[in-house]
Amino acid sequence: MSIWHIYGGNRLTGSTRVQGAKNAVLPIMAASVLSGGETVLHNVPDLRDVTTTLRILQHLGCTAVRDGDTVRIDSRGMHCDFIPHALMRELRSSVIFLGAILARFGTARLSMPGGCELGPRPVNLHLDALRALGAEVTERGGDIICRAHALQGRRILLPFPSVGATENLLLAAARAKGTTVLTNAAREPEIEDLAGYLNRCGAHIHGAGESCIVIEGVPHLYGSTYTVMPDRIAAATYMAAAAVTGGTVLLRDVNSEHLLPVLSAFESTGCAVMQSGSELLLRAPQRLKPVRHVRTMPYPGFPTDAQAPVMTMAAVGDGTSIFVENIFESRYKHAGELNRLGAKIKLEGKVAVIEGVPQLSGAPVSAEDLRGGAALVIAGLAAQGETQVMHPQYIDRGYAHFEENLRALGADVYRI
Ligand code: UD1
Repeated sequence: MSIWHIYGGNRLTGSTRVQGAKNAVLPIMAASVLSGGETVLHNVPDLRDVTTTLRILQHLGCTAVRDGDTVRIDSRGMHCDFIPHALMRELRSSVIFLGAILARFGTARLSMPGGCELGPRPVNLHLDALRALGAEVTERGGDIICRAHALQGRRILLPFPSVGATENLLLAAARAKGTTVLTNAAREPEIEDLAGYLNRCGAHIHGAGESCIVIEGVPHLYGSTYTVMPDRIAAATYMAAAAVTGGTVLLRDVNSEHLLPVLSAFESTGCAVMQSGSELLLRAPQRLKPVRHVRTMPYPGFPTDAQAPVMTMAAVGDGTSIFVENIFESRYKHAGELNRLGAKIKLEGKVAVIEGVPQLSGAPVSAEDLRGGAALVIAGLAAQGETQVMHPQYIDRGYAHFEENLRALGADVYRI
């Protein structure tokens, strides 16, 4: 098992290119089985979750290969409707194969998905949405079995704008008979990217990115070539890394519009953020002011995935900040580890009160999930002395070449 070693105190300067979005590419790869043709995806990040998804596709009988940041998937030879537990448990987004395989074959069998432990992560909304389209869904011994003679478009209201449930529904409805009108859909940019890919394959999806999405089912889809959107959470993570070191960093290949929900948090701390086309420049002050208030909400609210990296900024800001985590029950595991580095964070249910301290000091800490792990790396960049981050395999799930990119910006980090 490897460990990150970080010697804090270096100001980050220079520029880095932001990877393609993990949360967009994984559902798009699952969607590729719907077409029964060849899909070529560009801007695919080099991540463990992508490798696992390639393995799932190969298990299903698809040809799925990576060449640099391009992935080619040929789903013509797909012959299997079943994903074993060993693959499902590797990542949460494996559950998006449910809608995709069901729409392709009329049956799908898989076990409950894994992914980061952020509290209970039920799939009731996914299953209810598929039932509403006419699927018969049985849960047995940790397995989910879906059957549908013919999926039928319907009016569906999601009780909560779940990202995953919206994605499963888009996939199942894209080839259903008739029109599906989905109300209270998730509005995350990754939903728009999935719909963009499906439309490129011949689907008729209107309104993705809004809370009402209309999907006119079509009998066939075909393969296509698509470029995955930039990763807004990776961008926010690099911004936080630059901010805690008092640095100046230029991010290339970003979509600034997707970063609007996090910008005010950076501006509260006194960071200057300038955007031009697909580039974003962040210039941090010597000492950060407090972030003040962060309430995680579905898009266009503040993203829960950026909560942990931004909390590290609050931990070294000059004053008190209050965070409220509204999406996941157990998403403050990094707080205790940040306290080991000298942060002053108190938790009370979904609320965290962070009193900024002038200086963190290096210590061994443990990553417990993907974004919390990134927050610890960022804290290490600001801390005095050496910070060791154990369990970096969590961080590898979401950040491509993180260590090399930080080193290129001047950080003193390496992995043993
Ligand atoms: C996706 C993202 C994840 C992000 C999250 C919220 C991927 C691979 N993951 O996760 O990084 O943090 O969106 O932006 O894209 N819920 C239910 N029943 C369901 C589904 C969800 O109760 O059937 C609850 C969840 O427990 C959670 C909340 O709804 O409390 C949000 O979940 P959801 O939007 O579905 O997130 P994911 O798709 O799992």
